Amino acid sequence: MNKFLAIVLALSAMFVFGNASVSAASDANYWKEWTVVTKGVIPECGTDVVGLGADPIFKSLTDTYCKLKLGSYSTYLNPAANAAYKSRSPKYPDDRTAVMVFEKAGIGLTVDHKGGRVDFGVIDLKDGKSKASKEQGHPLNPQTCAMCHVSYSDACVSGVCGNRLKPAK
Ligand code: HEC
Repeated sequence: MNKFLAIVLALSAMFVFGNASVSAASDANYWKEWTVVTKGVIPECGTDVVGLGADPIFKSLTDTYCKLKLGSYSTYLNPAANAAYKSRSPKYPDDRTAVMVFEKAGIGLTVDHKGGRVDFGVIDLKDGKSKASKEQGHPLNPQTCAMCHVSYSDACVSGVCGNRLKPAK
């Protein structure tokens, strides 16, 4: 981010969320304390992402989401999930594991683990309320998330995909 913009945003955040409401603001954006593990952009429809070096799952991601014009994203990882993420272990602790934040579009995509199960969600960045779609086949329907995150089992371990290009250590 441009330095000037960063300062303006920091100042406006102080102004808007001054004093008592600081904790409310940080609760709604709890992932801001987490580690950013990947950053990227969903390119426009028709972009030859494979020609640009993307793997098949990223092409599929582009095909699924390009029409929504979500723009750039950062994925934030819960520190509790760090060890599993790094080693590509399937054993994630019960919690929200990661949030893929689309600032411009104002939505966050979430992956949670509970008792060995993986759950997907879509939240409004303003208030954390669900923006998941119930429409069959819709890109923001949790079933659509699962189809990709679970079916690309070489790329994604236990429903987590962002660590696919990093060799296990
Ligand atoms: C067509 C495939 C595909 C679909 C559909 C998809 N994702 Fe992903 N998702 C990915 C890929 C690939 C990454 C890794 C992105 C990167 O490397 O920066 C990712 C990353 C994520 C992350 C960051 C954690 C991780 O796995 O690395 C979250 C959270 C996430 N997706 C949630 C969702 C949710 C919620 C949905 C449905 C609303 C969804 N995804 C739909 C492919 C998909």
